[in-house]
Amino acid sequence: MTQSSPQPLFWDEVVANAQKGHDSSEKRPFFSLAPMEAVTDTIFRRVVEKAGAPDVYFTEFTNASSMIHPKAKFSVQGRLAVAENETQPVAQIWGSRPEDIAGAAKLLPDMGYRAVDLNMGCPDPTVVKNGAGSDLIRHQDLAAQLVSAAKESGLPVSVKTRLGFYDPMEFRDWLPVILQQDVAVLTVHLRSRKEMSKAPAHFELIDEIVAMRDAIAPNTLLQINGDIKSRAEGEALAKAHPGVDGIMIGRGIFENPYAFEESPRQHTLEESIALLKLQLDLFDEVNATVTPKHFEALKRYFKIYLRGFAHASALRQMLMETHATDEVREVLDRELARVYAAVAADQHIYRDNAAASAEMAAATAAKLAREAAES
Ligand SMILES: Cc1cc2nc3c(=O)[nH]c(=O)nc-3n(C[C@H](O)[C@H](O)[C@H](O)COP(=O)(O)O)c2cc1C
Repeated sequence: MTQSSPQPLFWDEVVANAQKGHDSSEKRPFFSLAPMEAVTDTIFRRVVEKAGAPDVYFTEFTNASSMIHPKAKFSVQGRLAVAENETQPVAQIWGSRPEDIAGAAKLLPDMGYRAVDLNMGCPDPTVVKNGAGSDLIRHQDLAAQLVSAAKESGLPVSVKTRLGFYDPMEFRDWLPVILQQDVAVLTVHLRSRKEMSKAPAHFELIDEIVAMRDAIAPNTLLQINGDIKSRAEGEALAKAHPGVDGIMIGRGIFENPYAFEESPRQHTLEESIALLKLQLDLFDEVNATVTPKHFEALKRYFKIYLRGFAHASALRQMLMETHATDEVREVLDRELARVYAAVAADQHIYRDNAAASAEMAAATAAKLAREAAES
């Protein structure tokens, strides 16, 4: 027996918001920022919101056992921190013990969370050794028990998983197990665990997954993930596969902080520097008030904002030598006038998101047409 989901109001709102302002005859997918360990914390989510907001955000995955462990619970607090002025994300948790998942999920409503996501796709060997993440694809009864355990929180439960552990075609046995649990959303990263993030995402399987969802759990929203880089590309994909309800974007945000922008346009270097400065300010705020943050980890973001213009790599190089946010600000203050002048002289537009998005959408449409012709 599966427990029935509580009224998934959160997700109803997400779907309605994505449709807002658009003709109801044309279904619009919702877009989400993928959960990414050491990336999608309260700082980066707020920067993305400023650059071009998705409809939904996911936290980094957080270990359920740590959340309920008296000694460990403080060390994971930063992962689940949400600022007052940010859109409430979905909490993603992971684990392999139903009692831990239930205990952790029950803490979430008091923290302001309105939805919980279970990680059943992580390929990391430590997570797999713990019987969690993608290992649950090999332990399907336990996976079902974890969904029931999470439902004890009263929150709508979603699951993010992969197609299979060894082979993508395992999805035919695996996804029905999750769909039978009456989850609010099923997010499918279109690869097996073995494929890691190396093989191309299996877009060719989307229609079969949609049909499976329609047959087993028509009320479960289906979200697709893997290799989708921008809203335009996601819209093209959803148009080609109308049963898809949501599109999740992960690494695309590293290449383009404006990946979720509704009307893609050109962005100046100044705009991207402003995003970097926002990230620095929020880093200081969180470091001072929520949880200690490691400055070195901030460096991985520099490339997101500082790319594609004259002197970008030289400037990045200088920033890689810094040791504190104030040092970054000093380098920017010292170097930016020179960089802006060089960029102006080149008449270089920093990032033409409109052209790039149109190009990506055309490439996706061509790929889909090729696949349709082949099938
Ligand atoms: C740095 C990084 C951290 C990730 N951390 C998580 C995580 O905490 N939870 C999760 O479900 N997936 C995680 N993923 C996987 C992504 O959510 C996503 O499924 C994957 O990157 C494929 O989507 P993409 O091609 O749009 O990037 C991570 C991926 C990256 C690159």
